[in-house]
Amino acid sequence: MWKRKDLIGIEELSREEIEVVIETALSMKDILKRPIKKVPTLRGRTICTLFYEPSTRTRSSFELAAKYLSADTVSIATATSSVQKGESLLDTVKTLEAMGIDLFIIRHSASGVPSFIAKNIKAGVINAGDGMHEHPTQALLDVFTVYEKKGKLEGLKIAIVGDIFHSRVARSNIYAWNKLGSNVILCGPPTLIPPYIENLNVKVTYDLNEAIEDADIIYVLRLQLERQKRGLFPTLREYHMFYGINQERIKKAKKDVLVMHPGPMNRGVEISSEVADSLISVINEQVTNGVAVRMALLYLMLGGKSDENPV
Ligand code: CP
Repeated sequence: MWKRKDLIGIEELSREEIEVVIETALSMKDILKRPIKKVPTLRGRTICTLFYEPSTRTRSSFELAAKYLSADTVSIATATSSVQKGESLLDTVKTLEAMGIDLFIIRHSASGVPSFIAKNIKAGVINAGDGMHEHPTQALLDVFTVYEKKGKLEGLKIAIVGDIFHSRVARSNIYAWNKLGSNVILCGPPTLIPPYIENLNVKVTYDLNEAIEDADIIYVLRLQLERQKRGLFPTLREYHMFYGINQERIKKAKKDVLVMHPGPMNRGVEISSEVADSLISVINEQVTNGVAVRMALLYLMLGGKSDENPV
């Protein structure tokens, strides 16, 4: 049963709640397979996306998810909003809440912003990525994708490779896989793996071959150069040589390994095009499943019952 007003992080969710999202997303996936995808489930409810950082996938999939469920949407672009005249974020949100918004989807460069807003308004809040903290809906769509492909979520080896330090996606995935009973191994340059991360019940290696050996999933992360004040590794070419996922590396992995990436990708840096576009890549499925999982979350958070058919 779903009782939360807000979704701030995977850390706060139980295994049962993650499973409810997966079950509900399976029903939503059926809607997405229909020629006409629209259902009246959330007619009369209003959702606002408020993104203070760039986004292609998260923002558009939330907006499509809302439209497919017949909710109304408002999208605030910070560049053209009254934020530019000095209005605080909380005043902006309270202004929109006064217009009747039921649920805010918030992305911000500072960790803790969605949680702060959630504590100060009656409407619900979904964290769409806050600083280096969490990106819970990304992790939920990732576990859903693995469930679809592997038929299970327990006992898997998940190798997360790349810029762990700056990655809210890595944090949310670590919390999710720990709760689901799978094992996470992290791999990247020592400068991009914070020492405290080992407290989160993960293994750490700097050797990519060790990470991908026996892995069921290779989860590739983008180098977040926009969050790095100085070079944390020598060159992009050298980074690819040691930590890039390419065909040569994949030869050392299991035959049925799956390659995932949250996007956006830097082809030729953390992943080669050959691998990104190959049959072992489920990157496009992640994108499609992002819509289904976000439909499930909108449905559950706006009062839908997890034991009722949403359509
Ligand atoms: N994965 C992800 O958050 O992508 P966007 O930044 O495009 O939303």
